[in-house]
Amino acid sequence: MKITVVGAGAVGATVADNIARKQLCHELVLLDIKEGLAEGKAMDMNQTAALLDFDTKITGSTNDYSKTAQSDVVVITSGIPRKPGMTREELIGTNASIVKGVTENILKHSPNAIIVVISNPMDTMTYLTLKSSGLPKNRIIGMGGILDSSRFKYYLSEALKCSPADLHAVVVGGHGDTTMIPLTRLATLNGYYVSGLMGAEELKKVSADTMIGGATLTKLIGTSAWYAPGACAAALVESIVRDEKKVFPCCVSLDGEYGQKDICLGVPVVIGKTGWERIIDYKLNAEEQDLFNKSAEAVRSMNNVLATLSI
Ligand code: 2OP
Repeated sequence: MKITVVGAGAVGATVADNIARKQLCHELVLLDIKEGLAEGKAMDMNQTAALLDFDTKITGSTNDYSKTAQSDVVVITSGIPRKPGMTREELIGTNASIVKGVTENILKHSPNAIIVVISNPMDTMTYLTLKSSGLPKNRIIGMGGILDSSRFKYYLSEALKCSPADLHAVVVGGHGDTTMIPLTRLATLNGYYVSGLMGAEELKKVSADTMIGGATLTKLIGTSAWYAPGACAAALVESIVRDEKKVFPCCVSLDGEYGQKDICLGVPVVIGKTGWERIIDYKLNAEEQDLFNKSAEAVRSMNNVLATLSI
């Protein structure tokens, strides 16, 4: 098993670190355009192997895609992160050409890879990767919903004073501050609806905090987050390489599911060795479907911007 992570910034390096610790592969390549960055971070991680007891070998590469050849899974984190006050959508001009170029280079050397997209604006970057690569839709997975759901569980656990691991809570729709939809109606604590355990106002606040979860961190740190994005991406990769068939909300190409077509948007999917294997229909109620449609509208207008860029 060989995995490549493109981008050795905070998110990419944390994805790689989590993948190595979980020993998901023997060969792990970390690639970046900045001279020496990936080699240095790879060496630093390799020096934790004795202590953390993994035998994954991490190779750093300064933009040499031949080192990524025959990767089974490729995680794309390239591009600039947002700064305080910026939306993920504002990154499109810079990140679209970067993500398109990375995808082309990756496919030259790993035509059979499953591609996980993290770069923002993630829903549009996933759509771009799908369209520009021409790959079967099941091999392109955008990572955003797992992260948003993890944040949703964090805020719920704080409010309910319970373990986040005992919660099932899902965010669907876009990975944007105003496009994501925390499904409060379906959230449970060990199978019991959380709406029966907390007031409606409190639940509304949890939902609102979840939606600006990334922005809150960006404001505090000065750049976007990496620990949760890294852990979430590694959990997704784990379900692929171990064929776990876990259900994660991921950004995938919709062809009529959830009432939408020709768009990549977050819905619950089964993740296994062929990528995303099937979509689970949560049967949204009218209000949730309305929000989902609005989310699709916003993401679609962002996708339309791609045609105006010279990439
Ligand atoms: C986040 O929400 C980086 O989009 C990512 O933190």
